[in-house]
Amino acid sequence: MNNIKVKISTVEMYVPEKTLTNQDFEKMVDTTNEWILERTGIHTRHILEKGRAASDMAAEAIRKLCQKRGITPDDIDLIIVTTVTPDMFFPSTACVVQEKIGAKKAWGFDLLGACSGFIFGLAVGSQFIRTGAHEKVVVVGSEVMSSIIDYTDRATCVLFGDGAGAALLEPAGPDEVGIIDSITRTDGSGGKYLYMPGGGSLNPPSHETVDQKMHYVHQDGRQVFKAAVTEMTAVSQQILERNGMKPADIKLYVPHQANLRIISACGERVGFTEEQVIVNIQKFGNTTSATIPICLCEAATEGRIKRGDYILLASFGAGFTWGSTLLRWEI
Ligand code: ACO
Repeated sequence: MNNIKVKISTVEMYVPEKTLTNQDFEKMVDTTNEWILERTGIHTRHILEKGRAASDMAAEAIRKLCQKRGITPDDIDLIIVTTVTPDMFFPSTACVVQEKIGAKKAWGFDLLGACSGFIFGLAVGSQFIRTGAHEKVVVVGSEVMSSIIDYTDRATCVLFGDGAGAALLEPAGPDEVGIIDSITRTDGSGGKYLYMPGGGSLNPPSHETVDQKMHYVHQDGRQVFKAAVTEMTAVSQQILERNGMKPADIKLYVPHQANLRIISACGERVGFTEEQVIVNIQKFGNTTSATIPICLCEAATEGRIKRGDYILLASFGAGFTWGSTLLRWEI
């Protein structure tokens, strides 16, 4: 066994310019700014213009990532695109991205972990560094949630936004720690509470699947809410305990941003103060697997996290899928 440690060496993000505010939704469905703010904490979401796709946002984020790190796309060994909204079923969005950015040496694949996609992607991508197979792995969450949302369903349409966030994984130096531990979980019995039934091999596209709105997100919000609080709390406590750490040791807790009430409940239950918990859901809504890298990018840009800080990531999403990553920031 070799002893290669893995670090996040760079993070970047891309969100489209166009936005939808709560006031816009007041004109579209039977809702109010007050209801949305009070029940979800969301005010604005970014929406990708028609004709562009998940690969475009991923490519933008990776180009910025390379520039920031001072490398070219040719230096990338592997591209993992985490998404529930690929450009199309095949070729994978990773292949499209590889061509768009001109990463001639890289191979790639898509990973579907819904809102846990980025945490799953970190766990998978890290292995290629740890084994010594690769030195530069990009994990990019890119989600065009607006392409699978029913904008007449007030219970789902106000929740989601579009965006991409990318992280570069590299071997950590001798005095660096990087990614310490990760927990990855699935429970398929939760699948019935959050899903998009149409378009796959079970319900191939037809007039009927379109008429029955089967190409949109369907969810039982209350069931997802309860499971998200329970499991994100449990997995956050578990990873701290098994690494001998307490909430006070963590500089920033980065829970998936699906609902402000879920974020607050998890933060409180694990034992974090408000200052330790990142909240940017008001600006972006739920961007599925792009959420966590967008949070990390904003926190780093704002100087909220510095080299040597301990950070805890936690996610919960369709599947059900959930997980956590404990890391030391090395940027
Ligand atoms: N405006 C006004 N009223 C609304 C709206 C709206 N936008 N949406 C729902 N309501 C109504 C409902 O119709 C219901 O009315 P009724 O009592 O007359 O039937 C009432 O509000 C209460 O509905 P609930 O579903 O109980 O509301 P709740 O407080 O649970 O909030 C929400 C709903 C925001 C969806 C919440 O349950 C939630 O955030 N759940 C988790 C969602 C989540 O985490 N999804 C993850 C997706 S991530 C992924 O993997 C893709």
